[in-house]
Amino acid sequence: MSDLTLNPTFLQACRGEKPAHTPVWLMRQAGRYMAEYRALRAQHSILEMIKDPEKAAEVTLQPVNAFPVDAAIIFADILTLLEPMGMNLEFISGKGPVFHNPVRDPADIRALKPINARRDLDFTLDAIRLSRERLENRIPLLGFSGAPYTLACYAIEGAGSKDFDNVRAWMFAHPRDWADLMDRLTDAVTDYLLAQIEAGAQAVQLFDSWAGSLSLADYRRFAAPWTRRIFDTLAREAPGVPRIHFSANGGHLLDEIATFPLSVLSLDWRVDAAAAIAKYGNSAAYQGNLDPARLLASDEAVLEGVAAVKQAFSGANGHIFNLGHGVIKTTPPERVKLLIDCVHGL
Ligand code: CP3
Repeated sequence: MSDLTLNPTFLQACRGEKPAHTPVWLMRQAGRYMAEYRALRAQHSILEMIKDPEKAAEVTLQPVNAFPVDAAIIFADILTLLEPMGMNLEFISGKGPVFHNPVRDPADIRALKPINARRDLDFTLDAIRLSRERLENRIPLLGFSGAPYTLACYAIEGAGSKDFDNVRAWMFAHPRDWADLMDRLTDAVTDYLLAQIEAGAQAVQLFDSWAGSLSLADYRRFAAPWTRRIFDTLAREAPGVPRIHFSANGGHLLDEIATFPLSVLSLDWRVDAAAAIAKYGNSAAYQGNLDPARLLASDEAVLEGVAAVKQAFSGANGHIFNLGHGVIKTTPPERVKLLIDCVHGL
């Protein structure tokens, strides 16, 4: 597969090179804020869409065809990885994801199965191949996975939660079983990301959406060693493929996160980007960090926000413009267009 991407701005920024314009893509750029997505979703469940490579590729391309984004992200979900490990996943409307058999005792963890991504998650790998074909090298395609900590949160809680208090209590009460669970998740995530790269993903992002629920000391003990192991393996096995870390509410964890072998450090909107760049330097590029709520407010709020974010990241060697977290489902699509044009300096 050729890697001659016609718009290489995203990959250049990942490498810390200065591209012709600031590249921009948005976390959750495919989703319910788009009418095209809702039309397909009216006929299929989210898991049906993810497991049908044809539909997953179609959804991956929806935002690419609607907006001049500089990168695509494969349509999938962080939670599908847990199904072949033995967990029964369902997305319940109005409630979100639910696992009907959460892991609550050591025997549950020992019963989790190792995965073979090429066999068990072949639908996403096929969706990557199909999306690459359809993208025709216009822009690069990102793969992704959840980080072990965030996956463990859902596996133990069995659903979403405000702060995953029960999960942290379980972790403190069962540190050895916690380590066993994290080892298993780490093996699965590593296999999955390497398989995505083999299928054609040109960069990978690890989503640790719930890392911020830990103190720095507990993050260092209970989460970071496993995340680090994943990035170490990717750096060794796929050195040319950019590695992006994202955490939400994780500003207090950056002293640790910045020591991972990353290509790109993603910041959410609560973090002062200029201060972070001054403190952590330019060995990695940076991604972020517009408050997604600005897109709900007004055109002026978007323009003002884009200017402030660009200024705050002006000291970075590479800057990939993104939101601080995913697109909110009530976002007007015209504002996404405005945002992207504005980042491109139009
Ligand atoms: O960014 C993209 O466009 C790629 C697709 C993507 C999805 N989920 C599709 C999806 C990505 C990158 C994810 C990651 C994901 N999934 C995360 C990490 C990122 C983050 O937001 O912090 C998490 C925590 C999940 C778990 C998950 N999936 C939840 C909590 C929910 C329900 C909440 C909701 O928004 O409804 C999902 C469902 C989901 N995954 C949707 C999409 C587009 C909405 C499903 C629908 O159509 O009803």
